[in-house]
Amino acid sequence: MQKYSIGLCFVCILSILVFSQCTQKPSENQIAVTKSSKPSFGGFESQVAWGEHLVAIGGCNDCHTPKKMTPQGPELDYSLLLSGHPAQMPPPDVNRIEMEKKGLIVTSTLTAWVGPWGISYAANLTSDATGIGNWEESNFIRAIREGKYKGIASARTLLPPMPWPMYKNMTDGELKAIFSYLKSTKPINNNVPQPQPPASSPQ
Ligand code: HEC
Repeated sequence: MQKYSIGLCFVCILSILVFSQCTQKPSENQIAVTKSSKPSFGGFESQVAWGEHLVAIGGCNDCHTPKKMTPQGPELDYSLLLSGHPAQMPPPDVNRIEMEKKGLIVTSTLTAWVGPWGISYAANLTSDATGIGNWEESNFIRAIREGKYKGIASARTLLPPMPWPMYKNMTDGELKAIFSYLKSTKPINNNVPQPQPPASSPQ
């Protein structure tokens, strides 16, 4: 019996303690809550750092950064990071009608692609006005989610091999992080050529 009342008493003290914690208004608890509700940026220290990570693992540089030839093969040209197909580079010198029938080819920069859709050129994604410098976040989200050129609703659909049908599954947080990173990149002036229609179809 005594054991039982000691137990009960313990429950009473515990409830009083819990209650007093709840009714207390000191700021200490609130500060803790505010701290933990800070955005986590996927574990990175900032939204830009998270975006940089997503761009690296998303393979964006594979197509959007020109390459330098080395004895080991093509390597990213970091001085041209994410600036797209170099404007001064001539279109691939191939028999396009034949190529369009056979499959596709790509330049050694991996920035110009010839296929049944014609020729597509990887876009400039830097913060320059010839890249995404004048874009709003909503343009970027539409470009990736709906595959729209420059993220404009009435614009043409983005051509292969831009993998937007896969990237559209990114979360809002991921897309926003990528956009904030792209906005932070070194501006590189490069007016990427417009795509060309297929050579085999009447123009
Ligand atoms: C396999 C090659 C490839 C990869 C990988 C790739 N892209 Fe692209 N991307 C392209 C090509 C080619 C275009 C141009 C398509 C066109 O003109 O219709 C393009 C276009 C875009 C556009 C539209 C630009 C505009 O002016 O409308 C955006 C935005 C974009 N890419 C972002 C990305 C991001 C972000 C990643 C990585 C998460 C990425 N791309 C990965 C090839 C690629």
